[in-house]
This record gives sequence, C-alpha cells and structure tokens, in this order.
Amino acid sequence: MPLALSPKIEPILLKDRFDRQITDLRISVTDRCNFKCFYCRTPHGVHFAKRESLLTYEEIERLAGIFVELGVTKVRLTGGEPLLRRNLELLAGKLSALEGLQDLALTTNGFNFHDRAHRFKEAGLTRVTISLDSLKQDRFREITGYPDYDDVLRSIEIAKELKLEPVKVNCVLIRGVNDDEILDFARFAADWDLEVRFIEFMPIDEEEKWTRERVVTGAQIVQTLKAEFDLKPVARETASETAQKFEISSGAGRIGLILPVSEPFCGNCSRARLTADGKIRTCLFSLVEHDVRDRMRAGATDEELKKFLISTILTKEKGHRIGEPDFVSPSRSMSYIGG
Ligand code: 5AD
Ligand code: SF4
Repeated sequence: MPLALSPKIEPILLKDRFDRQITDLRISVTDRCNFKCFYCRTPHGVHFAKRESLLTYEEIERLAGIFVELGVTKVRLTGGEPLLRRNLELLAGKLSALEGLQDLALTTNGFNFHDRAHRFKEAGLTRVTISLDSLKQDRFREITGYPDYDDVLRSIEIAKELKLEPVKVNCVLIRGVNDDEILDFARFAADWDLEVRFIEFMPIDEEEKWTRERVVTGAQIVQTLKAEFDLKPVARETASETAQKFEISSGAGRIGLILPVSEPFCGNCSRARLTADGKIRTCLFSLVEHDVRDRMRAGATDEELKKFLISTILTKEKGHRIGEPDFVSPSRSMSYIGG
C-alpha cells in the first residue's frame, strides 16, 4: 500500500512585515574594546556593562539555537572586541555544532587573533573579518590608540593560511582621515589576495562627528580606483549581501563596497542583532531594544522565547532613515551594538 503522504509542515521562520527573512544573526559578546577608534568607541564616563549583565555562553548558545531553529543559518560574533571575552573559542565550538548553522564568522580588530586562530579553526569558525583603517603606522596609531598594526597583519596572514576564506578586511573611509589610502588598500587587496571592503562612515558614532561631507561615497571610491584598476563586478551570492563586489584587474584580490549611506540595502536586510547584555536589536539604527535576557532568566521556556523572537522581528524597521529630517542616531554606538 502506498504510504500516505504526510502533510507538509512548513517550519516557522523569522519573517518581518516586509517579507524579509532573518537568516543572519550578529552576536556581540562584549561591549569592551582595546582600540579607541573615534567613529565607534564608547565615550568617557560611560561604564561598561557589568559582568552579570552579560549573557553567559550557555545563554548565548541557547538563544542562538532557538534562532537557528527559526531559520538563521549564519552567525557572526562581534563586540566591542570579541576576543577580549575569555575562551571565546569555547563558544565558537558550541555554536558551530548547532544543527542548521552553515556559517560561523567573526569580526575582530585582529590584535591577538593570530595567537588563537588555530583554535578557532578547530572550533569550527568558517570565516573572519578583520578591521584595518590605515596602512600608515602613525595614522593607525592615531586612529586606534594601539601601537602598530603588525599584530593585525599577522592575524590576516594566519587567517589566509588557515583558509578562513574569503578573508575580509574592513576599512571605514572618512574624509580627511584616511581617504587618501584607497589605492593603497586596493594594492594591498591584490598583493595579499583578499577582499578589502570599504565601508561608508555611518552616523552611529558616539562622539557625533559624522557629517555627510565626511562620507566617502561609493561613486567617489570607484572613481579613485579606476585610475589604476579595471573593476569587474562580481554577482552577489545572496540578495541580502551588503557589499557590492569587484574583481580587480591585477587578478588576485577583491574590493567590496558597503554603502549604507549613499545606496542603502535595507530592502534586502536579513539581519538581527543580539547585544552583549541580551537585547535584540532589529536594526543597526533601532531606537528600541527588546530584552530577551530577563525573560530567559525569569524562566521562559524555549517555546515562549520563540514566540517572543517572532513577535520582536515583526517590529523590524523598514530601513534606516539617514538623511531624513527626523533621523535620530541610536544611543548606543557600534561598540555596543556589534557590527
Ligand atoms: N561607520 C561605519 N562603520 C563602522 N564600524 C564601526 N562604527 C562604524 C561607523 N560609525 C565598523 C568597524 C568594523 C565593523 C564592526 O563596524 O570599522 O569594521
Ligand atoms: Fe538592515 Fe537596519 Fe542595516 Fe538597513 S540599516 S541594512 S534595515 S540593519
């Protein structure tokens, strides 16, 4: 007798009101950072989150597991500087074991990744993005407050060796700060055969130094690059990918352009964020946060947490409103929110 076809049960997924499915979760594991990049850092007088307010690894693992059950396939660990959180490799190992997770990435400033890269690789990390805003040592020091970028380069080198690919280097361009280094960074991408991603400066800096004039737009970056390189567009792998990618004429290396200000990509956004102190942020620019930590600590069941996440995602904003007359910067900078 033929087997009766069982009714197809559609899994419950995280979808927002604009039919965007959340597949990408960014988890900030600490709000601390040992660099002091002005566009991101925490201002003086603000106290870092107390230890007990941070989600424990067990709590993060539990929440990530629920997100994955709801359709998240990609997790990125961020901070602050995530490597300041002790034994982060342990968390990476737990997360990479989640059934259904396809991609576990890390964003770091690279200060000691070189020492720990092997352990991360063994733990199942698939990719790494390392921030580097200047290839001039004195400027790097000025921007970050860290003595030099040698550690960062070693981290990039080891990431390449371990094939945590594509190895990406994030460079936030700011007019008058580092916009004279566009070609140097493109040569660096070619020499090292990696992807340099130029990111437009966003008004999410605590010191409120952002002005539209300081944003180096994608069009300006392309124009500068064309003086030396032919750029060949690379198709996006997924619609929600933030970067427009180009191969450069030298053969090796790629350029990515992340243009949230001049060419917002919110229509295809697939991201949600979990802050180190256990709040869900539905957008980088959200003005509200949704506390999941206290619910969890009050004894919520997985089912209850699932319902909470589903209803939270339904509040996801259509997009950021940079440039609109009523735009308000979120009260927490990237170092809290996680990039
Ligand atoms: N504008 C653009 N990018 C930013 N980042 C942090 N703050 C800003 C900002 N105001 C980037 C960092 C890092 C990533 C986590 O986010 O440079 O590469
Ligand atoms: Fe997504 Fe908000 Fe970023 Fe737009 S600004 S891409 S909606 S997180």
